[in-house]
Amino acid sequence: MANDHTNIPNDLSAFWMPFTANRQYKKAPRLFTAAKDMHYTTADGRQVLDGTAGLWCCNAGHARPKITEAVQKQVAELDYAPAFQMGHPKAFELASTIRDIAPKGMEHVFFTNSGSESVETALKIALAYQRAIGQGTRTRLVGREKGYHGVNFGGISVGGLVNNRRMFGQHLNGTLHLPHTHLIDKNAYTKGQPEHGWELADDLERMVALHGEETIAAVIVEPMAGSAGVIMPPKGYLERLRALTKKYGILLIFDEVITGFGRLGSSFAAEHFDVQPDLITTAKGLTNGVIPMGAVLATSEIHDAFMTGPEHMIELFHGYTYSGNPVACAAGLATLETYREEDLFNRADSMAEYWQEALHSLKGLPHVIDIRNMGLIGAVELEPIAGEPTKRAFNAFLEAYDKGVLIRTTGDIIAMSPPLIIEKEHIDQLIGTLADVLKSLD
Ligand SMILES: Cc1ncc(COP(=O)(O)O)c(C=O)c1O
Repeated sequence: MANDHTNIPNDLSAFWMPFTANRQYKKAPRLFTAAKDMHYTTADGRQVLDGTAGLWCCNAGHARPKITEAVQKQVAELDYAPAFQMGHPKAFELASTIRDIAPKGMEHVFFTNSGSESVETALKIALAYQRAIGQGTRTRLVGREKGYHGVNFGGISVGGLVNNRRMFGQHLNGTLHLPHTHLIDKNAYTKGQPEHGWELADDLERMVALHGEETIAAVIVEPMAGSAGVIMPPKGYLERLRALTKKYGILLIFDEVITGFGRLGSSFAAEHFDVQPDLITTAKGLTNGVIPMGAVLATSEIHDAFMTGPEHMIELFHGYTYSGNPVACAAGLATLETYREEDLFNRADSMAEYWQEALHSLKGLPHVIDIRNMGLIGAVELEPIAGEPTKRAFNAFLEAYDKGVLIRTTGDIIAMSPPLIIEKEHIDQLIGTLADVLKSLD
C-alpha cells in the first residue's frame, strides 16, 4: 500500500532486495515510478536521465510504443503455451529473426529467461556436445578472473568476482580461470581496445600442459567484461583465444549478455571484433528489458551433433517452463523491429566518438585514475578511499542521482551504458553532472 503523499510504500521490510545494501537502502529508498525514452521519474516526481539503460538492458530507451503494444496485444491473445513438445508461432519467428542478425554461422537459438540461465544453458550444451562427439573426458570449464556470468552455480564457478563466489561453498568441480586483462598501469586512458595484454590468452596453453587438452570442454569469456567495471579486450587477445581453443578442440563461448544487441555499435561483439565463437549467450537487450528473456546461439555443428538418435527421442534434456514464453517473444520481436527501424546499432556507432571525447574530458578531475570506452559504454575508475573500498564511487552514484542522472558503480568504477537513442545534449548533461560530482567528492 502506498503512502498517499510520497508514493513510497509504507512497509519496505518484506522485499529482500538483490545486490543491494538493504539496510542502508531502506533508510533512504530510491524508487522509480515511471520511465519514458531517456528518463526515469522518481517517486518524488523528479526526472532522472538514464545513463545505464536500466541494467544494461533498455537499449531502445523506455516505454517504446511498438514494444508496449506488442506485449499488451500478446497477453490478450495467447498468454502462455507449454514450452515442451508444443510450440507457438512467435518463438520460431523470433529465433529466425535473431539468427538473421547474429554473426554468421550462429544458426540455432535456445530460449532461456535471463543471462544467468543462458550461461548455465551454454555450459551444459558445451559439456553435452563434447560427450555427443565422443569427447566425454572433456569436463573442465574455463572462465576468467573478474568474469561475470550471472549468479547461478555454473556461472559463479566460471566467474571471477570474489564477492559473488566466497559465500557459496565449493561450486562446480574442475573449473579453471584465465588471468584477467585489467592492466591499469599499462593501459590507463585507452580509447577503445588497449595495446597490452593479448598474451594473457596464452595461459590456456599452461592449463592444457597441466591438465591435458582432453579434459577441457569450453572456455567462457565476456568479449568485453561489463560487470567487473568495463574491461576491454586487449588488441589480439580474442583472436589468440580463438586460435588456441580451436587448436585444442575446446569450445569458445562468448557471454554477450551485455554486448549483444548494439552496445558496441554492432549487433554482437563477435561481429565487432570479427571473432567467431561456438556459442553466444544473450539476454537483456533481447527484449529491451521489458520481459525477462535470454537466448543461447549455437552453430549448426553443435546443434547437429545432437540430432542423431531416434527421432521420437528428446535430444537435449534441458529447458525452462518459460523458454520462449509468448509474451517475451512478442516483446523480443517488437524490440528487434525497433532496433532495425531506428537503425540503433549504427546509431550507437555514430555516437561513439562524441561519447568517447566527452568521457575522456573527465581526465584530470579529482580521484580519476582511468577512463575507458568502446561503443556506448564508458567507465571512470576512481582511486578508492584508503581502507574503504567502493565508498567513493558509491557516493558519486548517490550524488549523481540527487543531481538527476543515473550511473552505476562496481567497486570504485563508475560504469555508464546509456540507451542507444541518447542525444548529444544528454551526453553533455550526463558527463557534465559527473564532472560536478567528481569535483565535490571527498
Ligand atoms: C556478461 C553477463 N552474463 C550474465 C549476466 C547475468 O544476467 P541476469 O542478471 O539476467 O541473470 C550478466 C548480467 O549483468 C552479464 O553481464
